[in-house]
Amino acid sequence: MANIDKLWGGRFRESTHALVEKFTESVSFDRRLALQDIRQNLAHIEALREAGVLTPEEAETLSRGLREIEEEIREGRFVFRRELEDVHMNIEAALTERIGPLAGKLHTGRSRNDQVATDFRLYLTEEVRSILELLRDLRRALVDKAEEVFGIILPGFTHLQHAQPVLFSHHLLAYYEMFSRDAERFRESLKRLAVCPLGSAALAGTPYPLDRELTARLLGFERPAPNSLDAVSDRDFALEFLFNAALTMMHLSRLSEELILWMSPEFGFIDLPDALCTGSSIMPQKKNPDVAELIRGKTGRVYGNLVALLTVMKGLPLAYNRDLQEDKEPVFDTVDTLKSCLELSVLMVEGLHPRVDRMRTAAEEGYTTATDLADYLVMKGLPFRESHHVAGRIVAYAEEKGLKLWEIPLSDFRRFSELIEEDVYEWLTVEGSVARRRTFGGTAPERVREALKRARQALEEDR
Ligand code: ARG
Repeated sequence: MANIDKLWGGRFRESTHALVEKFTESVSFDRRLALQDIRQNLAHIEALREAGVLTPEEAETLSRGLREIEEEIREGRFVFRRELEDVHMNIEAALTERIGPLAGKLHTGRSRNDQVATDFRLYLTEEVRSILELLRDLRRALVDKAEEVFGIILPGFTHLQHAQPVLFSHHLLAYYEMFSRDAERFRESLKRLAVCPLGSAALAGTPYPLDRELTARLLGFERPAPNSLDAVSDRDFALEFLFNAALTMMHLSRLSEELILWMSPEFGFIDLPDALCTGSSIMPQKKNPDVAELIRGKTGRVYGNLVALLTVMKGLPLAYNRDLQEDKEPVFDTVDTLKSCLELSVLMVEGLHPRVDRMRTAAEEGYTTATDLADYLVMKGLPFRESHHVAGRIVAYAEEKGLKLWEIPLSDFRRFSELIEEDVYEWLTVEGSVARRRTFGGTAPERVREALKRARQALEEDR
């Protein structure tokens, strides 16, 4: 395309090199902002009309043209042209084709710099809202499952070694907490997204008396950005989004890792529906938790996207620099990745089937009630450090004899401590162990019931 035809072509004598055109274009990806760009154009037209830059008739013609283009975009009929560089110039060019030279007034008092920052904020606001919906689905699925499996006990782990028995519901609600914090972070980020750059123009503001409060309000923002230089070059909102997404992905990855471990025959704690697993092209017996593995794997690219944009931003002088065009792909990729990972995690949580016997057997293995034995001795008057030592010696003895703690005869127990009596046995069952952990936030059934209730209520209030 000859430069004379480009919207910015006036001062150019030579055509853009084909490689440069290909290198600098962004319409191949920023077309995702097309509908936001239309909305933003419509709001800008209002401000231009209010400022007396456009007559009411002109404003009407421009708006009508844009609405027709919007229709074409929605129906997938709009043809984006790479030689027009980006989504903004594609839409302006289409408007010119449609209504003629009047379209040339649209860009008065505006730059693509404030334009793209505004579109991007509008876009992310919508996506954050839909991510909040998905997070809510996931939190609800965890609460539903925690209710369904109430009473099932599995070993809790530290260092991936059997530690103490816990309710499976308690374990699931730990993830509920993580995703609730994620939701809170995304929700809070909306406040910082709700700042409107439009009217900052290229970097310094504009001589036209544009009412920035008006455009901000028309677009659903809370307020106009207070500094034009910052407004066009700030991408904190995108970085905050990428960080929030990275953190959520980390939580999804941990959940996935546990599902993978639990589905291995060594654990055998759960099964996942066939519909959520895939097979091997060579080993006919295989049923693999590939969805969980891919979520774990995709966490890497989301972290990468955060680091990519942080690196783009560092060292950028004020105000707009073309480097900023590199902000979009990491964000788009993160939005797509996070949304699909959330959707699939909901399916996995809903579909997971606990293998109660396997969990139960494992909960009894590995001397998971040894702490209770120590606590028993404390109750009988021994200082904890000493009782810890005695219980440790008993565990070593039991291990040597191949006995569970509750299979040790009382006479043997008493060789380790005279304080031990018949009532020790009720301290050694996994049910007793779980039931005694009654501190707030603990795994005792009544505490977990309360936690379920709180979670339900929070989900209700979150509507
Ligand atoms: N496509 C550009 C971007 O995404 C739009 C802004 C271009 N501004 C400019 N002065 N070249 O950042």
